[in-house]
Amino acid sequence: MEDFWTKRYAPKSTSELKGQEKAINELKAFVVGFKQQTKKGALLYGPPGCGKTASVIALANELNLELVELNASDFRNSAAIESIVGSASKQRSLFHAGKIILVDEIDGLAGREDRGGLQTLMKLLKSTAFPIVLTANDPWEQRFSTLRRQCRLIQFHKLNYKTVVQVLKGICKSEGISYEEVAIDGLARRVDGDLRAGIIDLFLLTSANKHLSTKELEFLFDRKRELPILEAITRILKTRDIEVALGALNDVSEDLDEVMLWLDENMPLEYKKPEELAKAYESLSKADVFRGRISRWQYWRFLVYMNALLTVGVALAKEEKYRGYTKFQRGRRILNMWIWNRKNMLKKSIASKLAAHTHCSTAYAFQEVVDFLRVMYSNSEWASKLEEELELDEKEIEWLKERRIKV
Ligand SMILES: Nc1ncnc2c1ncn2[C@@H]1O[C@H](COP(=O)(O)OP(=O)(O)O)[C@@H](O)[C@H]1O
Ligand SMILES: [Mg+2]
Repeated sequence: MEDFWTKRYAPKSTSELKGQEKAINELKAFVVGFKQQTKKGALLYGPPGCGKTASVIALANELNLELVELNASDFRNSAAIESIVGSASKQRSLFHAGKIILVDEIDGLAGREDRGGLQTLMKLLKSTAFPIVLTANDPWEQRFSTLRRQCRLIQFHKLNYKTVVQVLKGICKSEGISYEEVAIDGLARRVDGDLRAGIIDLFLLTSANKHLSTKELEFLFDRKRELPILEAITRILKTRDIEVALGALNDVSEDLDEVMLWLDENMPLEYKKPEELAKAYESLSKADVFRGRISRWQYWRFLVYMNALLTVGVALAKEEKYRGYTKFQRGRRILNMWIWNRKNMLKKSIASKLAAHTHCSTAYAFQEVVDFLRVMYSNSEWASKLEEELELDEKEIEWLKERRIKV
């Protein structure tokens, strides 16, 4: 993942950025004419994945400026930030014509412990010798009001789905990926202007066979399948009522593994206090222990405990309900798990047939035995016996044939 696609296809110069001409011109004018500016900061705002960070990087590249990046954790300690930016904003650079100081994603600066950091930043904006560029998804929060006045505001627009299509097709071309036109289209619409999400999804969906089809896409974005889970975790995370929590999973037909992943991904979006989050994760990990026992020993009566931990355990981890709306969502790991399962679907089904036949566990067959079958498969006589014995279907046979290991 080192050479990940968002990096590989990051624009090298501002001309490669799509659909943000106006914003980029404003940014360029701000940086180039920095000496004349009365406001020493520029605040780029707009939805995720539309090119805010990418345009700062591209511009620095283009103008041969050194990019000094600061993140939220630097701000926890105002002495540290003073030492990084205080000097960085005064010293001249040896190899570059100048610097841009990037403070990316200021939305991440939250709570009391960062107030000092914000103060430091605002002080810095008065005295800096180099342009400071900030980015935010939502700059209209009350706590940014002073900061807003100190900065030139530059709006980035949500990318049009056609733009997303264009970029994704470009990537397919250079990666040698074939695609159904409607599939690219569907993917682009579904990421709703977030090109980063689009690029990552494309990578994951095509990593198995360099092809993108609607079939996979439809399954992946099957709202009918996901809505009950979404509803259930919303109930769990939003209530402190034991009865409400306890019944939350009643309508969920997906297996609880997936529910656990959803909770894992979404708990931090709702629970803001570390001790609450710790409690919630403790419940989750206890539930996971029961899950292990259930699948190892088929102790189905443990399901009750697992259910209670996932619902009441997680729900009561918070001291009180949080107000307001939270957009719970499918996260990266869920996507990864789905793709992994797809990739290994045939291997799994072979393993389960083998397990039923030889009285071992499916997990054992999956990990230890199926690979051995792949070695044996170069012996065609043996192979056809196996096919018959395990009643393998065409797909499974094909899988084994394709992956046979020649010895
Ligand atoms: N307008 C755009 N034109 C071309 N590529 C883009 C654009 N916006 C985003 N990207 C791609 O998506 C990735 C993530 O964009 P980024 O600038 O980090 O988003 P954000 O607005 O959240 O800072 C970039 O590395 C780039 O590959
Ligand atoms: Mg960014």
